[in-house]
Amino acid sequence: MNQNLVNMEYAVRGKVVIEADKLSKEGKPIIYTNIGNPHSVGQSPLTWPRQVMALVDLPSEVGIDNPNCQTLFPQDAIDRARELKAMMGGSGTGAYSHSQGVPGIRSDVATFCEARDGVPCDPDDIFLTNGASAGISHILTTCISGPEDGVMIPIPQYPIYSATLALLGGRQVGYALDEGNRWEANVEELERSLAEAKAKGTTVKAFVLINPGNPTGQVLSRKAVGEIVKFCFKHGLVLLADEVYQENVYCDGKEFTSCKKAAAEEGILGEVEIASFHSTSKGIFGECGRRGGYMELTGFDKEVVGQIYKLASSGLCSGLPGQVMTSLMVKGPPPDGPSYASFKAERDGIFGSLGRRAKMVAKGLNDIEGFECNEAEGAMYVFPKVTMPPNAASAAEKEGVNVDTMYALSLLRETGICVVPAQGFGQEEGRSGFRTTFLPEEETMERAVELFKVHHEGFVKKYS
Ligand SMILES: Cc1ncc(COP(=O)(O)O)c(C=O)c1O
Repeated sequence: MNQNLVNMEYAVRGKVVIEADKLSKEGKPIIYTNIGNPHSVGQSPLTWPRQVMALVDLPSEVGIDNPNCQTLFPQDAIDRARELKAMMGGSGTGAYSHSQGVPGIRSDVATFCEARDGVPCDPDDIFLTNGASAGISHILTTCISGPEDGVMIPIPQYPIYSATLALLGGRQVGYALDEGNRWEANVEELERSLAEAKAKGTTVKAFVLINPGNPTGQVLSRKAVGEIVKFCFKHGLVLLADEVYQENVYCDGKEFTSCKKAAAEEGILGEVEIASFHSTSKGIFGECGRRGGYMELTGFDKEVVGQIYKLASSGLCSGLPGQVMTSLMVKGPPPDGPSYASFKAERDGIFGSLGRRAKMVAKGLNDIEGFECNEAEGAMYVFPKVTMPPNAASAAEKEGVNVDTMYALSLLRETGICVVPAQGFGQEEGRSGFRTTFLPEEETMERAVELFKVHHEGFVKKYS
């Protein structure tokens, strides 16, 4: 067996989740807050994208060309489905597409990126992917060419980076986010981490920025994004801009800035290699199961793009339903069409509720003695720091697990809440805690906050 695979870890679906599934099978009600998978915990799909999807999937004679179609579907869904079907050249969602994705859908994405960043975007720079995960894997595969190669990743990080690097046999080069300063990244720390890695003989190839952050929930300032882009330019690092939560910004006064926009404003667009990732799994769509997303490459050498294209071609193409969903994510119903008002109302409903939950959960956790929790300015998570009682570490050692895992298992068994131990994301030495989403419905989340408190008080008593 490939020992890299054996050694690879993926905490979000790790030990605690396996135990939760077992307990659930035995009949225990579980509140799953371990994974950013909104539909699995009650979020409804938006109606209009699903109407278009259904019509794109249906053979035309029972769908868009059926005389009864207008009695079941709004005209703007029919029109959009017709447009998408035409883009697929009549072959529909059952055929492979171009390996970068359907050209018309890539144009939709390019139009979206141009409107967001205020700079041109070439559809040929867009690769439609199975979620952001596939694009991330392509770029890491492209970068890692030997055991000395490394990639800078935030600590804490989203485990796809540590897992893929482990699989590829590359090195993780962690840079610490500053918990005391709302999880900002500062340049001194980036320089320190890079110098340390170089001193250890690591050839640092790339840099990962997750903004808004997972598991940390911060939305980086324009200044911070600009500094990171300049840092990558200065050191010739490929910048993996993980921007899947760009729509999930809840904090007044905070705004998402793409790395591409920051590079343009800093006058280095095209001079620094940026691979930016977006996904249908997050935002307001939450369509994780569609496996839709895209990556945009800017500043890459044509030869390198050719190799990445070859890599994408080896997987033939990304799933067509995911490509369609990506088009619908970047281009909603027309503002003058019959679906616009209801689409907007659904979106605003989900967004408003996520924002309320973000605030409520961070505040509720901060009110627990022994918890410290930064506000979730964006994304779908909070990452509280938990002060462990004095005897917890030795008890965990006896059980053969780390203290975060023992805590998460105890929380699960006593309350049914399934979180991810913080250790799975990486954290400062001596820190403890967990990550929780705030995706379950508002009432469930309010109950969960009470249960976090009750459990913590019991845990402290038991191990003091
Ligand atoms: C920061 C980040 N990047 C990438 C992904 C991958 O998501 P997907 O492949 O569903 O787009 C996730 C999923 O949770 C994530 O949180």
